[in-house]
Amino acid sequence: MKLSLALLAAAASGAAAFAPVNTNGLRSVTELNARQPIMAGNWKMNPTTEADALNLANGFTALLNEMEDTCAMDEVEGCTEVVLFPPFPFISKVMDIVGKAGITVGAQQVYYQDKGAFTGSVAASMVKSVGCEYVLCGHSERRSLFSDSDANINAKVKKTLEFGMKPILCIGETQEEYDLDITKEVCAMQVSKDLAGVSKEEMADVVIAYEPVWAIGTGLVCDSDASNEVHKYIRTVLAKMYDDEVAQATRIQYGGSVTPESVDQLMAKSDIDGCLVGGASLFADKFARIVNFEKL
Ligand code: 13P
Repeated sequence: MKLSLALLAAAASGAAAFAPVNTNGLRSVTELNARQPIMAGNWKMNPTTEADALNLANGFTALLNEMEDTCAMDEVEGCTEVVLFPPFPFISKVMDIVGKAGITVGAQQVYYQDKGAFTGSVAASMVKSVGCEYVLCGHSERRSLFSDSDANINAKVKKTLEFGMKPILCIGETQEEYDLDITKEVCAMQVSKDLAGVSKEEMADVVIAYEPVWAIGTGLVCDSDASNEVHKYIRTVLAKMYDDEVAQATRIQYGGSVTPESVDQLMAKSDIDGCLVGGASLFADKFARIVNFEKL
């Protein structure tokens, strides 16, 4: 279980770990330090060959090596954690390349059973054994295209934690739900069902990604203020399920058409702690710029 150094230091000293939200909705320096930013690239079912995947990994690593503000979690206080989610066949080789630059690798999904006759499925122990630290759980494409129910997602979150990895739980409303103005209700329902039975201690290893489905792959980025409001609301849900400490310590990413042009505005918001990036993470230069967002 890992906590950011700033958080640990604040907890140890008994000091308040988090400053109040600025009235302008921007994060204070204290808040920036309190939750380590986490930028993740979800390659989905791309690129189509191993050669292209390794090219992308090499290109991104080379660009990141030229930057100073990124590192694996816990290495340097205040830096950005970077995680890549390549397709399963490429995980080990991508890890060999990007690991040297302090980039973490995760699995795009796992099955909740430990092993056995589940053709085509991959177990948590398998991805753990090749070095994965994170697992995406509940991505909207898994929910809509592969019938992942909240009960299944909950089982996958727990299995990920059981094997000492960190789930990034993806939640978010569809276009229809957005039009019905039930974004908060949908997010609250998904958080409570998908995290059922996850302990307060385990929450230190859980990241949430708010990904409005209508913003994924569409070029429609959710307005940064609107997204920040949802992130704040998710914290109120966590406060009810757990307590204020968990609500304030949990890292919540935004996902949905994030680009170099939109990332700075998003990351300036008080409750947005990182981004889960699809399309733009397939371009080394774009993702490097996103990871190296400008602190407004
Ligand atoms: P895009 O960035 O392509 O919209 O994808 C977002 C996403 O689904 C990340 O998991």
